[in-house]
Amino acid sequence: MGILKELEEPPRNRDGKNEGKGETKSDGKGEGKGERRDEPLDLAELRKALGAFVTGVTVVTTLDEAGTPRGFTANSFTSVSLEPPLVLVCIAKASGSYPVFAGARGFAVNILAEDQRHVSSTFASRTADRFAVVNWAPGPAGNPVFEGAAAWLDCEMHDTHEAGDHLLLIGRIVGFESRPLPPLGYCRGAYMTFSLEQRAVAHADSHTRIGAILEWERSVLLLGAEDDGPLALPAAPRIGSTDEPESLLGMLTALGVEAQLGFLFAVFESEQGRALHVYYRGSARPMGPLASRARFFAFADIPWHRLGDEQVRKMLRRYVNERLEDRFAGGSGRPGRSGRSGQSGHAGRSGGSAPPGPKSDTR
Ligand SMILES: Cc1cc2nc3c(=O)[nH]c(=O)nc-3n(C[C@H](O)[C@H](O)[C@H](O)COP(=O)(O)O)c2cc1C
Repeated sequence: MGILKELEEPPRNRDGKNEGKGETKSDGKGEGKGERRDEPLDLAELRKALGAFVTGVTVVTTLDEAGTPRGFTANSFTSVSLEPPLVLVCIAKASGSYPVFAGARGFAVNILAEDQRHVSSTFASRTADRFAVVNWAPGPAGNPVFEGAAAWLDCEMHDTHEAGDHLLLIGRIVGFESRPLPPLGYCRGAYMTFSLEQRAVAHADSHTRIGAILEWERSVLLLGAEDDGPLALPAAPRIGSTDEPESLLGMLTALGVEAQLGFLFAVFESEQGRALHVYYRGSARPMGPLASRARFFAFADIPWHRLGDEQVRKMLRRYVNERLEDRFAGGSGRPGRSGRSGQSGHAGRSGGSAPPGPKSDTR
């Protein structure tokens, strides 16, 4: 919570004394950026800052009074103490399962494996029967623990603490299990899968194609030479740099797109097994009029039939579905700037309004 602390405490000078109002100097370029401001914090920006913290993803479960399993996706999990063994998770008071967890005798924390993104999305959604997507069994403390999770910890309730709009649930671990599965990661509103990085690095050679799913204002960049002809995601033999026309970044620059690559999204072999395709997700922004073969398509308007490569089509569908489900999108995939100039080629924003943000969650 270093950033919050910085914002809450008045800046101190070298003698450790608070600097008086009006004495602080700031050119807005560095030293003065974290100083206390009297105006209210920009919560959207604050969520973005908090979203830079890389976490795992858990589903926290319990049983309600009727014995019905309840659960929600949480990345506010942390370990607290080994002796006694305590863990902590924060639940939003505004969430539907708050009353159940606030009065629960215990809870289990299921640390998701990287192939359980759909479990995370389901337990963060309004799906009625969330537990239909997992095989589960009661853990030693009676709370639902998931098959296929990287680890689970079943806890008795040790304590609860109110903290602003959240309640801290502190559990004492009574049983746990862990498996050697790669865990699912989360940062800046996007899932991260660590084994993808390893596969991409291990297999990268001259047959590798590096591509990108680039998002701008809830639309994706696709390339195609003809009006109704085939479309493809931008891809090249290497990432390169903006001044290398043969590379991905160079090609994007030539198309008039400023791109920022984020995390790896998918790695797969072509159907003939000859090439390895490595796809990043990232954000983009037109720098001016786009080249005629480049165009941003709103999520709702993607002409799926024109995406010739089936593997690419499936991958992009998965991306769009995840983005539509993600009510917590904080940063990744959404441009940090509002550059609206040169929108030519943009396919409109139908279905592209920003998703409702969570009441005050930092996810
Ligand atoms: C990656 C991720 C992490 C989340 N972490 C938390 C969390 O730590 N605490 C929380 O209250 N909600 C968190 N949420 C939001 C809840 O999962 C979401 O609001 C869920 O719908 C709550 O369900 P409920 O309203 O039925 O309780 C997170 C969502 C996602 C996608």
